[in-house]
Amino acid sequence: MTTHDHGHNHDQHGHGHQHGHGHEHGFNAESLTNNDRLYHDVYAEIVDWLAPTKGASVLEAGSGAGGFTKLLAEKVGPLTGSVTALDQKHELLDVAKATLADSPAAGIVSYQESDIAKLPFDEGSFDLVWSSRTIHHLPDQLAAVGELARVLKTGGWLALREGPIRTKFLPDDIGLGDPGLDDRLDVAFHRWFASNVRGEAVSVRYPFGWTKMLSDAGLKNVTAKTFMLEALAPFDDVQISYMSRHLKRWIEDDERKAMLMPGDAEILEQITSATSEHFVFGREDLYLQEAVTVFAGHA
Ligand SMILES: C[S@@+](CC[C@H](N)C(=O)[O-])C[C@H]1O[C@@H](n2cnc3c(N)ncnc32)[C@H](O)[C@@H]1O
Repeated sequence: MTTHDHGHNHDQHGHGHQHGHGHEHGFNAESLTNNDRLYHDVYAEIVDWLAPTKGASVLEAGSGAGGFTKLLAEKVGPLTGSVTALDQKHELLDVAKATLADSPAAGIVSYQESDIAKLPFDEGSFDLVWSSRTIHHLPDQLAAVGELARVLKTGGWLALREGPIRTKFLPDDIGLGDPGLDDRLDVAFHRWFASNVRGEAVSVRYPFGWTKMLSDAGLKNVTAKTFMLEALAPFDDVQISYMSRHLKRWIEDDERKAMLMPGDAEILEQITSATSEHFVFGREDLYLQEAVTVFAGHA
């Protein structure tokens, strides 16, 4: 138990700030857990860069499967400090608890089922607030970042993992269709994201970059730092699972499929089919790369 254990707040569950028509927006407990494994070394670098001191109080907003939470807790703990894992999904908080179960720092972590848009914490509660790939899901992103800034102590650091450069791993020319499939999937992603994630009636458009969002929320010394995820074939199961899902979601999800360029769905069927001569995961020339960017500022 820590000073930040406020228990579960069932009043907020299922209201207002959840997405209206029940989309998972491409993630679930299994994929988030696989992502935590994929990014483990990058996360460790980010935690070193964030450098919370021993004994610090930390909030992770949108904690998902808890892989980052664990590294944060082991950095500020294992026996001092506090880490609050906050998520609006009760089932993901349970996954995070299971992730932390065997950690020596498990005792300093508390779990809070709440909406980021309305945090149940006093002003000035935390030395560090971390939020990864979550703010872009909020109906009003600037208001949410303002709420995260509100609960920071003076001098505390708010850091967001967001960013525009997505995963790539295919050669430019895969020998099927026009070169540049990775880039066309990026374009499809923008179209899908705009209409299916940010396109709901409750959305407030914020047509500026992440650095301005942090400044607009009142933060100072705004900065950005990019960490690279990269791997070469032969890939391990975690990497294959990630890359396979990255391609298959474009043919398994009809709303995503509708955003593809003509002919690309057929190409994706072939390259993800283990019986096809074009099966992509038999290739030795794949190179997995992603820029993982953190935007940060001080209160
Ligand atoms: C794309 S996942 C990212 C999870 C994890 N931070 C990561 O980087 O892998 C977004 C997470 O934010 C949570 N989330 C989305 N909107 C939220 C909100 N308004 N309040 C609290 N959590 C939210 C989701 O339940 C999910 O766990």
